[in-house]
Amino acid sequence: MERRQLGRTDLHVSAICLGTMTWGQQNTEAEGHAQMDYALDRGINFFDTAEMYSIPPRAETQGSTERIIGSWFKARGNRDKVILATKVAGRGQMSWLRGEPTELNRKHITAAVEGSLQRLQTDYIDLYQLHWPDRALPLFNDRTTTFRDLPKGSENPIEETVEILGELVQAGKIRHVGLSNETSWGTMRFVQAAEAGKGPRVVSIQNAYHLLNRTFEIGLAEVALREQVGLLAYSPLAQGYLTGKYQRGARPPGARTTLFERGQRYEKPGVEAAIDDYLALAKEFGLDPVHLALAFVTTRPFVTSNIIGATTLEQLKSDIDSIDVKIPADLEKRIDALHQLSGNLAP
Ligand SMILES: NC(=O)c1ccc[n+]([C@@H]2O[C@H](COP(=O)([O-])OP(=O)(O)OC[C@H]3O[C@@H](n4cnc5c(N)ncnc54)[C@H](OP(=O)(O)O)[C@@H]3O)[C@@H](O)[C@H]2O)c1
Repeated sequence: MERRQLGRTDLHVSAICLGTMTWGQQNTEAEGHAQMDYALDRGINFFDTAEMYSIPPRAETQGSTERIIGSWFKARGNRDKVILATKVAGRGQMSWLRGEPTELNRKHITAAVEGSLQRLQTDYIDLYQLHWPDRALPLFNDRTTTFRDLPKGSENPIEETVEILGELVQAGKIRHVGLSNETSWGTMRFVQAAEAGKGPRVVSIQNAYHLLNRTFEIGLAEVALREQVGLLAYSPLAQGYLTGKYQRGARPPGARTTLFERGQRYEKPGVEAAIDDYLALAKEFGLDPVHLALAFVTTRPFVTSNIIGATTLEQLKSDIDSIDVKIPADLEKRIDALHQLSGNLAP
């Protein structure tokens, strides 16, 4: 398994990262443990989780994914084999996390780190990420929030957030920091705060990136490459839609959208036709559509690691096998031509 440098750190993470957010709801503890055993065997040394998981976010299941990872560390005694990434929730209304709406201030960040360490049964987190910004932004398929929605002066200053994270690094509780669901402006402000001596430099940005959403290429890719703040790409299969399993309203038993109706990002005009085009392209090149979609993400120059998700060991095997799939120049041209036609349909 290929390893890539994480930001400017001395850590080298596998080009495929094991996503975990289905464990504790769609998957059991035993299934989560089996996935971690298998992934580690295949050379994956990078796991991604969050205090908020499992998904969909609910009070009753919050923290269950981290608990499953923690019980695996305890059972296997192999904490040192894994570069572990987790996240603190950004500004939001999930009061069940800490008894009030969340925001990225000292009280919330400190409590979040302590909670994660406890559930994960570890005394350090390798990569601590801000799950989404403290600012009012159109995120997660929300196209109604605008930059005018947050009253002036109510944001926690980025410099302060960086200082708090620096104290946690000093205390040895976290090793490095990263962003998620961030913009070019936000990322550069975090870089600048570090360069002004406020605290640690961010090493990664975890954003959605897949064939139906290549918005990262505009603005953020340049930041990622020039500043060495690489992309940790999430939802590389567009939450399963790029497999073709939901075409023409299909709802396969046990699949995420069937269970939770979480497909609103992908049920939009034009998406079904674009997926048909990618499925046909994969067929023409003799590729499994899953491999086409995953290899496309893994091989982009600004991607540090591709965060896959699986609900069965068969899926996991196929997803990891994508590491050996190449995207030759003629295929890349055809992918780009389809993208020119359809654009970023599901940001
Ligand atoms: N930072 C963030 O805001 C954020 C947001 C989302 C995700 N993430 C991270 O990224 C990880 C991956 O995200 P994701 O789950 O949305 O990724 P994804 O790759 O787009 O979707 C994964 C889902 O697709 C289906 N699938 C996977 N492999 C398959 C295969 N070979 N054949 C058929 N179906 C397959 C499975 O769902 P079914 O079996 O249910 O169909 C699986 O759970 C998460 O675990 C999490 O760590 C982060």
